[in-house]
This record gives sequence, structure tokens and C-alpha cells, in this order.
Amino acid sequence: MTFDLVANDPASKARAGVLTTAHGTIQTPIFMPVGTAGTVKAVHQRELKEDVKAQIILGNTYHLYLRPGLNVLEKAGGLHKFNGWDKPILTDSGGYQVFSLSGTRKIIEDGVKFRSHIDGSSHLFTPENVMDTQRTIGADIIMAFDECTPYPCDYNYARNSMERTHRWLQRCIDRFDSTEGKYSYEQTLFPIVQGSTYKDLRIQSAETIASKNRPGNAIGGLSVGEPAEMMYEMTELVCDILPTDKPRYLMGVGTPANILENIALGVDMFDCVLPTRNARNGMLFTTQGIINIRNERWKEDYSPIDAELGGYVSTFHSKAYLRHLMHATEMLGAQIASVHNLTFYLWLVSQAREQILAGTFRTWKDQMVKKLMTRL
Ligand code: GUN
Repeated sequence: MTFDLVANDPASKARAGVLTTAHGTIQTPIFMPVGTAGTVKAVHQRELKEDVKAQIILGNTYHLYLRPGLNVLEKAGGLHKFNGWDKPILTDSGGYQVFSLSGTRKIIEDGVKFRSHIDGSSHLFTPENVMDTQRTIGADIIMAFDECTPYPCDYNYARNSMERTHRWLQRCIDRFDSTEGKYSYEQTLFPIVQGSTYKDLRIQSAETIASKNRPGNAIGGLSVGEPAEMMYEMTELVCDILPTDKPRYLMGVGTPANILENIALGVDMFDCVLPTRNARNGMLFTTQGIINIRNERWKEDYSPIDAELGGYVSTFHSKAYLRHLMHATEMLGAQIASVHNLTFYLWLVSQAREQILAGTFRTWKDQMVKKLMTRL
């Protein structure tokens, strides 16, 4: 994997780059749609490519390991072959889902014991077996096994957890570097900065992660309920320590405004369930602001969902029609809303990139943040 920086914004820390993986190139800053169980919910791979213009999608180790399981994925030749997405894939390690989804879990030095949210069966994730599992899933970028601390989190817990995450990271690196990919293409391991909302811990973690000298780095443990200003403070602190010549991935973030503000602080990659999850509840992100398509207001509004955005579903279908589908709980409603929201997110980061290339990102960002968070 290589990362080439192509521009720096003169009035902020925003950067534009090109990330090259075995399954193709990614123009950064980028948003990565979340495809938890090998599918971006309600969105077909062809729409992801043709309409949304996604360049890379996510998969989750926790879900894919439990179902369909590693045998099915390995016999298919890996996740790309299995789900028909031939562009880059990143898998999260399970270090987040194991905490948020499994009913009972126990952290021990070796790893995390947990029960499946599907059938209650017992499992153990260790840094070593999570590396092996991600080798089998076959993502281009794989994540270290970490603990994402909750917010708020007391200082001693945060410090102990961060130190364990660092010990787990070294075990991940040792395993990853002593094994080969299963499908004859290169995979890359990203370590994850933790440290909750404590500046000294964040600095210590960022320095530890930077010292591992991996081809890309991630920032975890944010957007877990802390105020946005606190998240920005942590991101800035960490970005200033992580190497400039490697991509920086902020995990699980966020709203359109969160994304633009973090791009301004030097983040290159994002993922979040917000555009797809909220789409299924009728919340649309548009070039004019945020709308709840279920509202009475749109009942006889025959204008396109988002004329300015463009894109197939956003210009072809009216707000009134989408509102009707949502009220009738028609599956097509979730599909149209999901494609629309993802198209909007990918448009947003491509606009950000153009503004960085033009050297005008800062003023554009300040205007956009206000406009995009308006509730119509
Ligand atoms: N997704 C959102 N935040 C995190 C995090 O801190 N760790 C991992 N592994 N995934 C995340």
C-alpha cells in the first residue's frame, strides 16, 4: 500500500492524497460506507459503484466470523469474491463490536471472551486469532485488536485499557508480520490510538502508535458520546503527532459537520453507520440541510429529493414519493434513502478534496458546516 500526499490546504491542516491498495486507488479525504455483514445495508454493489461512487467499503470481523463464518469465506476466495465488491475493503477488528453487541464479555490479558449476539455461543478473540481471521476475510486494510473505551471513562480505567491495547498491538504486529495473506495480494495493518478524552494518554498513545511505523494509522475511542469540541481537541492533538506521510483514519465518525471539521484537523479517512442507519428511519442529509422525509411537510412536495446533489435516485424520485414509501414501510424506501445519503456523503468528501486542491477549503468548510446542519 502506498500513500501520496498531493495537496495541503494553506489555511487549515486538511490534506488531499491518493491511497493505492491491491484492489485499486482511493482519493482522500474519503468516506467509507459500512458493510457490516458483507453488505452495505439496503444498497446493492452496483449502486455503490455507479450511483454512490464508493471507493472503499468496510466489513466487520465480529459479524463475518460469526456468520457466515471463516470456512464459507475462505472457500469463496475471500470477502471480495464472496460479495462481488472488487474495490478496496477495510475490516474492523471486532475490538468495537465485541463491546457494543455481545451480551456478556470478559476482558482478560489474552483477549476478550464473549457470547455471540446471534446464538449465545462462547468465543475468545485474541490479537493473534483476530489477525488470522482478518487474513482469511481478505480485506486490503485490517485493523488492530483494541478496546474502545466508553465515555465517560475514569482515568485509571482509560490508562490501563490503553496500555493493554498497546500490548495487544505488539501481539497483532508480531502475528501479522509472521503470516502471509491467503489470496496472493497485499494486506496492510493499521494500529489504533486510544486514550479516551485524556490529553496525556492521547499523546502517549499517538507516540506509541507512530513509533510502530505502519503504512497507516487510526484514531479510535471517539464519537462515543463526548461533546464534539472534545473530539476535535483529541483529533488535533493526535494528528499533530501521527506521521504526515501516512493516512489517518478516524473510526466511527460522524455527521457531515464532524467530517468536515476533522478533515480540517488532518484526518483522511472516515466511516460511520449514520448515513445508512438514519436513512432507514427517514433522516436525509441533503445539500440544503437535514430533513425528516416522514414529515407532513413533504406529503405533496413533488420536487426531487435533492436536485443540487444530482445522482440517480436523488433526482429521479420526489420527496412525496419517498415519504409515501417510508410511511408504507416499503423496502424501496430504505433503499432509496440509503443510496441518497451515501451519495451525499461521497459527494461531500469529493467536494472537500476539490477545495483542498484549489486551496480554498477553509472558507468553504465554514460555510458548508452551517448549511448542512440546518434542519429543514
Ligand atoms: N469503531 C469506532 N470506534 C472504534 C474504536 O475505538 N476501535 C475499533 N476497533 N473500532 C471502532
